[in-house]
Amino acid sequence: LIGHRGVKDLSPENTLDSIKLAYKLGLKWIEVDVKVSKDFIPILLHDDRLNRTTNSIGSPIDFNYNDLRKLDAGSFFYQYPTNIYIPSLKEVLNFCKKNNIGLNIELKPNKGFEVDNVNSIVKILNTFGFDNKFLFSSFDLLSLITMKKLIPKAYYGLLIHSFNKEIFIDNIINICEKYHFISCGLNKSIINIDVVKSLKKKNIIINAYGEKNFDLSEAKELWSIGINSLFIDDPTEFKNY
Ligand code: G3P
Ligand code: MG
Repeated sequence: LIGHRGVKDLSPENTLDSIKLAYKLGLKWIEVDVKVSKDFIPILLHDDRLNRTTNSIGSPIDFNYNDLRKLDAGSFFYQYPTNIYIPSLKEVLNFCKKNNIGLNIELKPNKGFEVDNVNSIVKILNTFGFDNKFLFSSFDLLSLITMKKLIPKAYYGLLIHSFNKEIFIDNIINICEKYHFISCGLNKSIINIDVVKSLKKKNIIINAYGEKNFDLSEAKELWSIGINSLFIDDPTEFKNY
């Protein structure tokens, strides 16, 4: 189980509160979405815009981090004002390192800032002494390739939301093999036995994510067909499993 944006159903997504709660609930790996501010500070934010998860509007790329940090990143969840803010990746790395949490950094750049995002993340990571407990994942191939060139020994995973003419299973496998990506994160809607078998044949680890939390019975079914890990929004039901 990988905590999804922390534990996004229990605490405001992509915040330190949510990450701390995921850790408290026993999760050993946590996924966060990372993009840069105007002054190239890597921050945690899922959307291209601030509208849904903060009390502001607009694009994070138009604000320096000092200003982003003043925003309320908790009120959308609690429906009252909070002191919860958008954390920098640096703060998250500090917490994860201290508590030995594996961090899945999803590279989630705003369009046009793919390379800046990677460069800014690498700059921060270099000050942390890299120790391999990182999985970099992305829907954006350019981000993954750029990051892999700079930190070749980390783990990499390609995220796939849907299949189409250019994105189909053979092509995905070719990409994973070409760039030595170890995993594929699939939207649950495109998972079936054939897809799983094809990826397994090539020893590609399969992660599943969904728009809603996985319940235990659904998780068991996915594990039974060979899915390795699930992004979980609320692990409460899994406590005694
Ligand atoms: O990495 C799995 C999942 O986080 C991908 O989707 O939209 O939640 O970032 P999203
Ligand atoms: Mg994500």
